[in-house]
Amino acid sequence: MGNSTATGKVTSRELIEIEYRHGAHNYKPLPVVLSRGEGIYVWDVEGKKYIDFLSAYSAVNQGHCHPRIVSALIDQAGKLTLTSRAFHNDVLGPFEKFATEFFGYDKLLPMNTGVEAVETAIKLCRKWAYQKKGIAENEARIVFVERNFHGRTMGAISASTDPVARKDFGPYVPGYDIIPYDDIPALEKALENPNVAGFLFEPIQGEAGVVVPSENYLTDAYRLCKEKNVLFIADEVQTGIARTGKLLATCGNCNCQNPCENQYETRPDILILGKAISGGVFPVSGVLADDEIMLCIKPGEHGSTFGGNPLGSRVAMAALEVIRDEKLAENAELMGREFRRRMQALVDKYDLFKLVRGKGLLNAVVINDSPDSKTASDFCEEMAKNGLLAKPTHGNIIRFAPPLIINESQMKEACDIIERTVQEFKH
Ligand SMILES: Cc1ncc(COP(=O)(O)O)c(C=O)c1O
Repeated sequence: MGNSTATGKVTSRELIEIEYRHGAHNYKPLPVVLSRGEGIYVWDVEGKKYIDFLSAYSAVNQGHCHPRIVSALIDQAGKLTLTSRAFHNDVLGPFEKFATEFFGYDKLLPMNTGVEAVETAIKLCRKWAYQKKGIAENEARIVFVERNFHGRTMGAISASTDPVARKDFGPYVPGYDIIPYDDIPALEKALENPNVAGFLFEPIQGEAGVVVPSENYLTDAYRLCKEKNVLFIADEVQTGIARTGKLLATCGNCNCQNPCENQYETRPDILILGKAISGGVFPVSGVLADDEIMLCIKPGEHGSTFGGNPLGSRVAMAALEVIRDEKLAENAELMGREFRRRMQALVDKYDLFKLVRGKGLLNAVVINDSPDSKTASDFCEEMAKNGLLAKPTHGNIIRFAPPLIINESQMKEACDIIERTVQEFKH
């Protein structure tokens, strides 16, 4: 890799070419090459500054390179990074205690990526089905909803209804039923099958385009699951950890300033977390459940070499402390309202924006074009030129999810950039 500019730096274009030549083509990123991040800002290799309105798909809720999280990482990296689970380490126990108290569950099973936590939840649900619910061997079923996104493993894509995620990857994992989202009669019908052991869903569908279900959907779904002894399994990999203005999107309509002691209305039987549990600093994910469910898995039946490693465990504790101490759920709620107010004004004024939706700082704007157009993508490229990074979820939907530390003046700066891009945009 030769030096290519007068300053001796390799250019963005060269780095993109290198990546294209030597890397698999399983992503199509915006043509921006980032080399530094701090708070809500990132800089590309040419030194151009951007506001990050993606937060690595809601992983960097605490902001880029949060000093408290980074210093936990550095401190732990010099002591002990990985033991595997063949031995105990002196950080895992404290992390498990911290996380179970933080979220109000008996036990944590730590993994690394979001999809591994989803796989863990599926396996845990099946174990419970056979050991506790008494379903006959290999007959357990799990209900999923259309347009879900739970990650990229075979277990996850087998539940997907997205042809791009599935095509030519079959055969798929059996034992899944897929019903429409936000459809209580469909769920009621699906749960008539006594072999159904779990209902696995996103409280707000992130990758589908920040689709928020109707107000009573979660409470009604929860009630049905309880009636039928079916596990209510929430994938909060994207919605969790303060993103939607509450610690969890399944928290209900409480005010996070008043501790609820985790007695909320739709408390998941299995809670799946990832991404922001480590502030985007190190891959950490996990599944939380009470003993009745979690202890169905015995030694040797599930695990991961890196899951529960001391480095990730330290980082995750620091990341969760930041969420609590900096009151990021409250800030997400406040800043989210302001974002939607500003975007609604653009919807009212310009044809390009059709609607804005979301909760807290997980929002999307639907563009006046078809889902298979590339208008949203073109618009994101124009926003990038103006100094704001976001990414479409579909040809006509852009997700806007900044770090939750964003303040009022930064939010104004961001909304001004979006407004200016709308004014300039030609399609
Ligand atoms: C709801 C949900 N579940 C699971 C995942 C998978 O997480 P990971 O990419 O860390 O495997 C994602 C990622 O976007 C997600 O949004």
